Amino acid sequence: MCGIVCYVGNSKAKPLLIEGLKRLEYRGYDSSGIAVQDTGRMDYYRAVGKIVELEKRINGLEINGTTGIAHTRWATHGEPTEKNAHPHRDMEEKIYVIHNGIIENYQSIKKRLEKKGVIFRSDTDTEVIAHLVAENFTGNLNEAVRKAMSQIEGTFGIAVLHKDIPGQIVVARRGSPLIIGLGEDGNFAASDVSAMVRHTKNVIHLNDNELATITKDDVSISTLQATAIKREAERVEWSAEDVELDGFPHYMLKEIFEQPETIKNAMRGRLDKGEGVPRLGGIIPVWDKLKECRHIVIIACGTSYYSGCVGRYVFEKLTEIDVQVELASEFRYRKLNFPPNTFIISMSQSGETADTLAAMREARRKGAHLLGIVNVVDSSIARETDAGIYNHAGPEIGVASTKIFISQLTILTLLAILLGRHQNLSLTEGVEAIRAMEALPDQVQSILSKANHIEAIAAKYHDKSNWLFLGRKYQFPIAMEGALKLKEISYIHAEGYAAGEMKHGPIALINPQMPTVAIAPKDSLYDKMISNIQEIKSRRGPIIGIGTEGDTALKEMVDDFIEIPQTLDFLYPILTVVPCQLLAYYCALMLKRDIDRPRNLAKSVTVE
Ligand code: M6R
Repeated sequence: MCGIVCYVGNSKAKPLLIEGLKRLEYRGYDSSGIAVQDTGRMDYYRAVGKIVELEKRINGLEINGTTGIAHTRWATHGEPTEKNAHPHRDMEEKIYVIHNGIIENYQSIKKRLEKKGVIFRSDTDTEVIAHLVAENFTGNLNEAVRKAMSQIEGTFGIAVLHKDIPGQIVVARRGSPLIIGLGEDGNFAASDVSAMVRHTKNVIHLNDNELATITKDDVSISTLQATAIKREAERVEWSAEDVELDGFPHYMLKEIFEQPETIKNAMRGRLDKGEGVPRLGGIIPVWDKLKECRHIVIIACGTSYYSGCVGRYVFEKLTEIDVQVELASEFRYRKLNFPPNTFIISMSQSGETADTLAAMREARRKGAHLLGIVNVVDSSIARETDAGIYNHAGPEIGVASTKIFISQLTILTLLAILLGRHQNLSLTEGVEAIRAMEALPDQVQSILSKANHIEAIAAKYHDKSNWLFLGRKYQFPIAMEGALKLKEISYIHAEGYAAGEMKHGPIALINPQMPTVAIAPKDSLYDKMISNIQEIKSRRGPIIGIGTEGDTALKEMVDDFIEIPQTLDFLYPILTVVPCQLLAYYCALMLKRDIDRPRNLAKSVTVE
């Protein structure tokens, strides 16, 4: 959840580290810090709040060193205060450590060290690493970090700097991402490529239980047992522009407007229109087993979970496969009992979500096959699955996930059509589905072109403190996703409900102060939705209807109407979610929220 960036080279480290931190800020942003090595001293500064606070603190200071580490924090152990911000130091103030993850046995280590006289300055789990490295240091930093690693349990990506060892950074990983960037003018390390993509596209991924010593001219990787590892650099495809705002006021809005392209990217090269069969190269290694599979479990968290919920209905419609969708955080603690040849599909934008990874590993232990639908190439989930499909959506920076949701729906639908075509789905149905999918980018574009109308609706309702989102079948998960979007960025309380459940409780909430977003495209459950809308109307609840173009009956029934183009029942979610995203965005904008960095959240949830 936190962000790590390091540099060792010929240039001044300070501006490179601050720039990197800003690109990582979406991962965590309650405090930050920097340690830059200079001859015989360490320039060490920390600040509470966003990176700009750290910047203010060091502005104008002479920090000329060319080796440094920096961190942006999302608090787990200890409040977001300056003393808890990273880097953390040992007692002699020689060893500086930044850390992403959680040290599970930090309390027992801390007790042992305190008995030896070590004085702790923070409430964090991280600080034990600095003292452990110091305890094991006899002149070789890599060796000291390796020895410290063997004593700590939990997850970490760490970077360590020693005041008296110039031009050297030691990094290590277990469970939290750590990527090394090979630049022309020096080398980088970071928890996310976006922190260094402006300076290098040649990267080396560190695996679990590996560490590396980085200098300006060299990177040497080794295992926990000190065995040297040779690993070639890979090229990342993301450009610096991909991680820029490109004229949009927020990443979230940029990413919402990228969605037509996101759908195209998810489908590019993957459609065989003549045969009505998608081609998904990433699943070839498991295809023989997958095509026989009759039980799939989708595991994910948050928005990725809701796309899995839509996926269940799509698979039900197009295939003969039973699909179960599970929140990874719950699933990992369940007693698992799968039929033979069960496939797990782990869905994750970041590919680093701790709960999803842990749930996958548990399923693996029970004999399931693992597939991934992941955006970040070479992320932990991507590497631990047997096969998978990449979103190819480029970086998603806004904490509120938008374009990845649409991309996940697109890919799940492609997979369902592919499996369906090997079961009972006819050629005509396959061709019809693919044709309808090809129309989606333009259809999403046409919804985006009405953003002003949605903004005006947000202006009318953004001051209401409680909202309800309703849908049925394919639209039920969209109701939940719409509510999640609104609450996470605007802090308005919102609930997503299956419209059929209204009478079982939630209808008691309806009053003129509580807007309902009723998602009612012309699909198989349209008439049922209309009855639910009538029930709300008769209790004087204001209704924002999301419906199909030309549906004048719905338009007249609701207070505000947002039109979406017509498509097949199972593709409507890809269209109906867009107005929900825009409503959330504009409400948050009007409430002056920090849209890309909502409070208490982080983009990549790498702790349980
Ligand atoms: O990276 P992942 O897709 O695994 O992340 C899962 C959730 O943490 C994520 O979707 C979260 O719910 C977003 N903030 C929702 O907008």
